[in-house]
Amino acid sequence: MSKSVKRVAVTGGAGQIAYSLLFRIANGEMLGSDQPVALHILEIPEAIGALEGVVMELKDCAFPLLKEVRVGSDPMDVFEGVDFALLVGAKPRGPGMERKDLLTENGKIFTKQGEALDKVASKDVKVLVVGNPCNTNCLITMHNAPSIPRKNFHAMTRLDENRAASSLAEKAGVEVVDVTNVTIWGNHSATQVPDFVNAKVKGVPLPETITDGQWLEGEFLTGVQQRGAAIIKARGKSSAASAANAAIDHIKSLVTPTEEGHLFSAGVCTDGNPYGIQEDLIFSFPCRSKGDGDYEIVADVPWNDFLKERIVATEKELLEERDAVTDLINA
Ligand code: NAD
Ligand code: LMR
Repeated sequence: MSKSVKRVAVTGGAGQIAYSLLFRIANGEMLGSDQPVALHILEIPEAIGALEGVVMELKDCAFPLLKEVRVGSDPMDVFEGVDFALLVGAKPRGPGMERKDLLTENGKIFTKQGEALDKVASKDVKVLVVGNPCNTNCLITMHNAPSIPRKNFHAMTRLDENRAASSLAEKAGVEVVDVTNVTIWGNHSATQVPDFVNAKVKGVPLPETITDGQWLEGEFLTGVQQRGAAIIKARGKSSAASAANAAIDHIKSLVTPTEEGHLFSAGVCTDGNPYGIQEDLIFSFPCRSKGDGDYEIVADVPWNDFLKERIVATEKELLEERDAVTDLINA
């Protein structure tokens, strides 16, 4: 028997990430090759014309799994009955900016979208915030959607994990699939902590393969933290195809059982977390899933002094970001 349609909202549908993302969702790359989907695409009124062009292209692909496309500018209409919501639509940073500089402008988008999800989405909706600064925008969304479980709100740090794995594989001279268990701790920002200490190469602790500690603690760490800025400098625009790919990977990790002993990174709510990070933040942790859309935080990834010092700093930054948006989280 064929599966019932899953409804996937994507915001910022006329933007550059969406242009890579929508087609892959419609092609079954996110939810599976036997899972029919309906796309609910949100844009601001000024960009609806451009979005209509994207919809024409979606139709012209004749994707067998794409059963319906809805578009609109009102989240109360567009989010109706959605099972997944990928909140991409927001302004990207330009050269010389930090992602948190976008908080004033982008933060308010997520109050309205949180309220709409609360009212019209499936009560089991899984929400992935991509628009920056994604951790704190996710916190804002979660606070404005009190009837949806706080566990269902995610911020995307998977791009950082993929960047870290790729960089480590190149250094070790192995395939990227040989590098596993790369946790990104904390904020999707320059304070994030890409954990090489607990990463593995072919199942063996990574520091046994990459013995160049100076590279790991220096060039590698900074390279991942600053990769987004390096792409903006080179391309004149922020990452798009790799961001869309990470969003697909993130949701795929929730709907596929995690391989034994493996983990993935996701920004999730800190309530009751096993690492003592302050509650009521969206913080990236090592996670595992049974493939049912839910996840658990992996509790036993040890911190050495190097990691601890940096994890405390990224937590502090998230607390500061939260303090800057008290009006939006208590709206
Ligand atoms: P873009 O400017 O190409 O597209 C953004 C789109 O969002 C635009 O079409 C705009 O009209 C739309 N939009 C703005 N406000 C909206 C609203 N209230 N509702 C619906 N749509 C709205 O930007 P992009 O390159 O696609 O990036 C989008 C966001 O994703 C940025 O904030 C960027 O910084 C962020 N990003 C995050 C990651 C990550 O790893 N978390 C990676 C890359 C980019
Ligand atoms: C990225 O990491 O590529 C995105 O967050 C975009 C940015 O502003 O760096």
